[in-house]
Amino acid sequence: MGRWVSTYLLLIAAAMAASCLQSESAISKGSFEDNFSIMWSDEHFKTSEDGQIWYLSLDKETGCGFQTKQRYRFGWFSMKLKLVGGDSAGVVTAYYMCTENGAGPTRDELDFEFLGNRTGQPYLIQTNVYKNGTGGREMRHMLWFDPTEEFHTYSILWNNHQILFFVDRVPIRVYKNNGEENNFFPNEKPMYLFSSIWNADEWATRGGLEKTDWKKAPFVSSYKDFSLDGCRWEDPYPACVSTTTKNWWDQYEAWHLSDSQKMDYAWVQRNLVIYDYCKDTERYPTLPVECSLSPWD
Ligand SMILES: *[C@@H]1O[C@H](CO)[C@@H](O)[C@H](O)[C@H]1NC(C)=O
Ligand SMILES: *[C@@H]1O[C@H](CO)[C@@H](O)[C@H](O)[C@H]1NC(C)=O
Ligand SMILES: *[C@@H]1O[C@H](CO)[C@@H](O)[C@H](O)[C@H]1NC(C)=O
Repeated sequence: MGRWVSTYLLLIAAAMAASCLQSESAISKGSFEDNFSIMWSDEHFKTSEDGQIWYLSLDKETGCGFQTKQRYRFGWFSMKLKLVGGDSAGVVTAYYMCTENGAGPTRDELDFEFLGNRTGQPYLIQTNVYKNGTGGREMRHMLWFDPTEEFHTYSILWNNHQILFFVDRVPIRVYKNNGEENNFFPNEKPMYLFSSIWNADEWATRGGLEKTDWKKAPFVSSYKDFSLDGCRWEDPYPACVSTTTKNWWDQYEAWHLSDSQKMDYAWVQRNLVIYDYCKDTERYPTLPVECSLSPWD
């Protein structure tokens, strides 16, 4: 009897959950095709039945990638990701913004890359910034959770004063402009947003020592809750060239870390940084100019 009642209650709960899910998707977050297109390999892309969760897979043949149809200049760009679980050594999931959809010699780019690992070994998150084709500005961080178990939010705030990389609203990296013409801060060209999954066992895990185990394929990364609050670029008279008071991401508050962001950022700096190109004097005997800019300003 007791068992029957609890089964019954469970059924009611399940029915209620299902109807909540339905009405939530009915609010219509839009479909994938509204804002994105597949860059390569359609058959490695799937969505959940309601269209709200997207899956990219990698097998021995190829990976897969998608991009926004539009370009944006400045704004807030955010997505929830759940990364390939289990043995994911050699597999890289990239989530990035770029001015073009190839590795052109004058591109600007902002990268999040998730470097897979052997089962039970920690993922690393690598970020990088390119201006006019030049990158080499890597930082690597550990995370404070297992990114393969749940969805977590990864976001970029981009304005003419700073670029912030966030994990669950914690700023893990601050990249400042110096207010002068320079060749390190991408601020002129609009960017698309991309994500892709690929094999990088040449370099990704323990510097390339750990190879992708294809017996574990396909490797799947999941996405949901894309949100973007930015200035959409329209040729030939782009609306995004001037800073207006309309856009919160361009305003004074968004030019610096807030007090609580400073505390979070300090904690990340103390505990999670594995690599910082600005500390790598072997690689850069003269440190790049941007390394002297303070994240606290
Ligand atoms: C997404 O696509 C819809 C339909 O084309 C459009 O109205 C909306 O502005 C787009 N969103 C962004 C963030 O560009
Ligand atoms: C960008 O890089 C190209 C070569 O890669 C160079 O010719 C050009 O002058 C650079 N532009 C700027 C604005 O620095
Ligand atoms: C993978 O795990 C090893 C051992 O814990 C660690 O040294 C390494 O930094 C991890 N991540 C990558 C991407 O190599």
